Amino acid sequence: MKVLEDKIRTYGRALSDDVLLVDMFLNHQIDCELMREMGAEFARLFRDERVDRVVTVEASGIAPALMTALELRVPLVVLKKSASVINQGALQTEVFSFTKQKSYLLTLKPEYMPAGERVLLIDDFLANGEAALGAARLIEQAGGVVAGIGIVISKNYMPGLQRLRDAGYNVSALAQISAMGQGYVRFVGEEG
Ligand code: G4P
Repeated sequence: MKVLEDKIRTYGRALSDDVLLVDMFLNHQIDCELMREMGAEFARLFRDERVDRVVTVEASGIAPALMTALELRVPLVVLKKSASVINQGALQTEVFSFTKQKSYLLTLKPEYMPAGERVLLIDDFLANGEAALGAARLIEQAGGVVAGIGIVISKNYMPGLQRLRDAGYNVSALAQISAMGQGYVRFVGEEG
């Protein structure tokens, strides 16, 4: 998605091959118009999947997921990462974040995931795929069907995208980074 790649080129800052700072428009200050455009694009990409519900992981997935759910006119469910009072009777799965080097319990109340519904999972970054695989596990544990996975920024040189596709999921990413290092970002199609 060109508008997103342009934002990353203009305002993103690659600190290393691990971390791309996008806090100017995605996860600290939020560019609402960009979120609207991304929601429309996710809705277009997954239009044929008969999506009943959008699911995301807190916190940075919420903005693009909300705009996608609005566009598709379906409910949005946010998987929780922090221990909280909702844990009683909730489904949980452990996820290890390589980027942050820590584990957390992803949590879902089953009443917000009716069995048989088709789910579009939206998240901000895809690196190793742990968060997306954990979210898919929870959705499926509750009886939902993962109809698609939409990612804002995929670091394609990391294993996440391949792992999700190998697991059989229909994955689309709006910006796909083929290489990144301190001070540079290269998108798929720009190699050479
Ligand atoms: P994985 O799920 O694909 O395995 O990735 P990993 O655990 O390594 O990273 C997930 C967390 O790290 C997410 O944040 C994600 O937003 C963040 N992250 C991954 N790569 C980048 C990056 O290049 N830049 C930035 N800014 N963040 C990155 P989270 O723990 O879910 O926190 P939140 O920000 O959503 O609250």
